Amino acid sequence: MNYVNYDEIIEKYPRDERFILAMMQDIQKEYKFIPKEALEKISEYLDVQMTRLYGMATFYKALSLKPKGKNIIKVCAGTACHVRGSALILKEIEKQLSIKSGQTTEDGKFSIEIVNCLGACALAPVIVINDKYYGKVKPADVKEIIDLYRGENNE
Ligand code: FES
Repeated sequence: MNYVNYDEIIEKYPRDERFILAMMQDIQKEYKFIPKEALEKISEYLDVQMTRLYGMATFYKALSLKPKGKNIIKVCAGTACHVRGSALILKEIEKQLSIKSGQTTEDGKFSIEIVNCLGACALAPVIVINDKYYGKVKPADVKEIIDLYRGENNE
């Protein structure tokens, strides 16, 4: 990963609390999570309490304080997907990766997230890996789909 200096991201914004969220979003985009050191920089730059920054980082779903896997598997738990067995799909993904939703595999390759309706209900049950949608997924398909992301391109 191409690490940039946190300062570069943070200091392109004025010293104004209105930009806290924008700073965090930029850091999240660059690092895929918000390292503690980055929060410390924001705290110092804007003179705001760390507890407040932690509060924001945990409140906004798009932000994460923990590193996420290279491949993010989102399992839809919306009504249409739920009715069509998304729980079984989730269970199979968790089994294949030996982690639970909200966790990341030890090799850092996969994270599992449960999300609300992904807007593709006609294809329920739906999972999304990174930006790719997989519809009408059956538990028996899960291994094959995950294997696509285990390959060398994802080393
Ligand atoms: S409920 Fe899953 S895509 Fe809408």
